[in-house]
Amino acid sequence: MDALEAIRKRRSVRKYTGEPIPREDLEKIVDAGRLAATGSNTQPWDFIVVTNRAMIEKLKVASEWMDKAGAIIAVVMDPSSRWWVEDGAAAVENMLIAATALGYGSCWLEGYTLPWEKEFETLLGVPLEKRLLTLVPVGVPVEWPAKWKKSLTEVIHWEKY
Ligand SMILES: Cc1cc2nc3c(=O)[nH]c(=O)nc-3n(C[C@H](O)[C@H](O)[C@H](O)COP(=O)(O)O)c2cc1C
Repeated sequence: MDALEAIRKRRSVRKYTGEPIPREDLEKIVDAGRLAATGSNTQPWDFIVVTNRAMIEKLKVASEWMDKAGAIIAVVMDPSSRWWVEDGAAAVENMLIAATALGYGSCWLEGYTLPWEKEFETLLGVPLEKRLLTLVPVGVPVEWPAKWKKSLTEVIHWEKY
């Protein structure tokens, strides 16, 4: 699947079969994240790949539907970097597209306002000076939801608004 096809196909998928995901596919997804654009090339990110069922059980307090994810990727950012939120968002979107290209469903789970942020940081051993930006569950999809999107003609402006 080429990049444009994966971008068009990507949707937030919240129902997974519970099947495990091969380690090499998880590495490909994280690799797409680490290659994202980043302000001044600061690359202020780390990615924790959680496949352990007991840990997934704990993280699913944030959303029950993560239960059947094959993995949850926690995106950890260095907030001392000026563009940490933008950089993290770019990395997450790259991972969502990569997961789609590999045939997996994924979803962005809330932002750095996650009410369980501190609790999750402790559980995952995140250093005190870092922030948990978001969780990205990845799984074998049960279904591929359709989603209404604004049309290109509604949002595109040529030369002026
Ligand atoms: C910043 C951000 C936070 C999101 N947080 C959640 C969330 O907490 N739970 C959830 O189920 N989906 C979450 N989503 C997914 C959005 O609901 C989804 O992207 C949106 O409805 C558009 O659907 P699509 O991704 O299928 O195109 C989030 C998306 C973004 C970009």
